[in-house]
Amino acid sequence: MKIIRAKDYNDMSRKAANIISAQVIMKPHCVLGLATGGTPVGTYAQLIDWYNKGDIDFSEVTTVNLDEYRGLPRDHEQSYWYFMHKNLFNSINVQPDHIFVPNGSNPDADAACKEYDDIIHMVGGVDLQLLGIGHDGHIGFNEPGAAFELGTHCVDLTEETIDANTRFFGNRDDVPRQAYTMGIKTIMQARKVLMVANGADKADIIKKAFFGPVTPEVPASILQMHPDFILVGDEAALSKV
Ligand code: GLP
Repeated sequence: MKIIRAKDYNDMSRKAANIISAQVIMKPHCVLGLATGGTPVGTYAQLIDWYNKGDIDFSEVTTVNLDEYRGLPRDHEQSYWYFMHKNLFNSINVQPDHIFVPNGSNPDADAACKEYDDIIHMVGGVDLQLLGIGHDGHIGFNEPGAAFELGTHCVDLTEETIDANTRFFGNRDDVPRQAYTMGIKTIMQARKVLMVANGADKADIIKKAFFGPVTPEVPASILQMHPDFILVGDEAALSKV
């Protein structure tokens, strides 16, 4: 595990974007595993900036996203498909048929999850997986207690995650109760894992996840065992470690 300290959110975003950009330069046809949430938005903005300056080319890149709400169509403003297009894909030259997000509008959970695992397998696995972290230690939507050996699966969101995501939906009742997510096994199979974390509200969980025991109760703690895991955090998120 490697920890990179950043001064603030902008510095964290730039450092994370540098690592992603190095991956794309070293292997132009790489597979990037991407994440949603507020934390990576600055990283995506930095990548767009470098793309506009001609410093990075996504024409051969494939992307696979971590998760999607079950029941939201792609064009719903809170779907992760929509989020990724708004915050990254619409502004870079990734090819539309190289973009993959779990299909939240397929009500058949087993079929949707199997289809997604088949896609990840077909593209040759993930070269670099970007992650944020939830306050309860969730990664993707792998909530506390999720078995480490799972591939893509359907999860019931915890009350804490529903609360945290209410800010995006405006109304708690509108937050979907389930999601399809890559499993911990899928994430651990990525060749490189990059987590971004910022803000004082993440300091406790960062300490628990990376300086405490490895346990399914703190899903992110398994990353301590990953051979190439990089955490880029700002001062506030790393203030307790
Ligand atoms: C959601 C996403 C996670 C993300 C988490 C934290 O639950 N499914 O992938 O890491 O939110 O989000 P934020 O970065 O906004 O704190």
